[in-house]
Amino acid sequence: MPLDIVIGTQWGDEGKGRVVDLLSSRADLVARYNGGDNAGHTVTVGSQTFKLHLIPSGIIHPQTTGILGNGVVIYPATLLAEMDMLKNMGVKVDPSRLRISHAAHLITPGHRALDAAQEAARGKDQIGTTGRGIGPAYTDKAARRGIRMEEMLNEPAFRKRMVAHIEETNQILTALYKAQPLDPEAVADEYCAYAEQLGGYIADTSALVWEALQRGQSVLAEGAQGTLLDLDHGTYPFVTSSSPTAPGVLPGLGVGFGFPGRVIGVTKAFQTRVGAGPFPTEVLGEAATRLRGTGSNPWDEFGTTTGRPRRVGWLDAVLLRYAVRINGLSELVVTKLDVLSGLPTVRLCIAYRANGKEYSDLPFGPADLSPFEPVYEELPGWDADLTSARSWSDLPKQAQAYLTRISEISGVEVCQVSVGPERDQVVDV
Ligand code: IMP
Repeated sequence: MPLDIVIGTQWGDEGKGRVVDLLSSRADLVARYNGGDNAGHTVTVGSQTFKLHLIPSGIIHPQTTGILGNGVVIYPATLLAEMDMLKNMGVKVDPSRLRISHAAHLITPGHRALDAAQEAARGKDQIGTTGRGIGPAYTDKAARRGIRMEEMLNEPAFRKRMVAHIEETNQILTALYKAQPLDPEAVADEYCAYAEQLGGYIADTSALVWEALQRGQSVLAEGAQGTLLDLDHGTYPFVTSSSPTAPGVLPGLGVGFGFPGRVIGVTKAFQTRVGAGPFPTEVLGEAATRLRGTGSNPWDEFGTTTGRPRRVGWLDAVLLRYAVRINGLSELVVTKLDVLSGLPTVRLCIAYRANGKEYSDLPFGPADLSPFEPVYEELPGWDADLTSARSWSDLPKQAQAYLTRISEISGVEVCQVSVGPERDQVVDV
């Protein structure tokens, strides 16, 4: 059976959680391969709303085993809190249902303190990170001084490593950033206690994924963040420090080529972004409030992890086409189409203009979008409330035309559309 992948095509928050939830009902393994608790996946099941940052949201389905792959960075306090939250909500969580790669790296309070200090030092050039220590943890990994999950299994050596790591981090914090140092022994005590609780979950998850695929089981890779936040392919430097794109699945899970399945790209019917960085189709003022919502509903555009209001704008098909190429998408899911109901017209960015020239593709990727102005196509809007639509024919013809245009411009078929937060509020195309 194949390895299916769910990817965000924008700057994260596309509504991947619900797509993963739907696909996980048929999956054996659900795996996170990148990022850490900077992510936020919300899944609504009846009256229950699950908000997960680290554990794959597919674990809500009882037949799945959740995997945190080697490409993930783990803040144990968040992980343990999520395990408790799931248990309290009736989801079984034990080592038969959740495995953590021995090669995944730990995030420590030192990384979080560095993240905060580095953001403050950037001044007006802040990235707007989630403050979860993601960048510093991946920096330590790349510099070959990071601490891996497997080290938790040898308590005396782990304690020494933690103390040395915090002492080293303190030097940077105090000398470079004039920040407060941390207490190395206290952090080591805290992490040794975590080691006791998490030791039984540590495994060679690459082998588990391989064995599952060999047995003909189905594996679902659950992307966090989105294509435009990819360290290599995103709007650098306004990116995260991992590879949320489909190519990142292979090193992030330790699985080779050879199990091709679906690569499903999730895009909102419009565009959102949290944090700083370029956003050519951004709208401000009243138009923005209309797309964002006021925060009175859990599905309004406010960050799941940090609660920050998201920046909002029109769907950017130039960037969507780019995401199709970088990920090799096989199909698209469009989310939140219902939010556009009631607008007189809907705008779609189909090209960019710079220096009197039009570009339908990016000449040098999305890192520097400052010279470009969006070229819009204006499509007729629709008034009907879409939240009870369940089939293509339930959609007004203007909404159908909008979706058809997204398929044409991106070169990939839209296979599903969501029209509300509930599990069944979807239209299969
Ligand atoms: P970091 O990943 O915390 O270092 O943040 C880097 C950038 O990625 C910031 O602009 C964050 O707002 C953004 N970011 C990180 N994770 C997510 C996510 O899950 N959804 C949306 N934006 C994210």
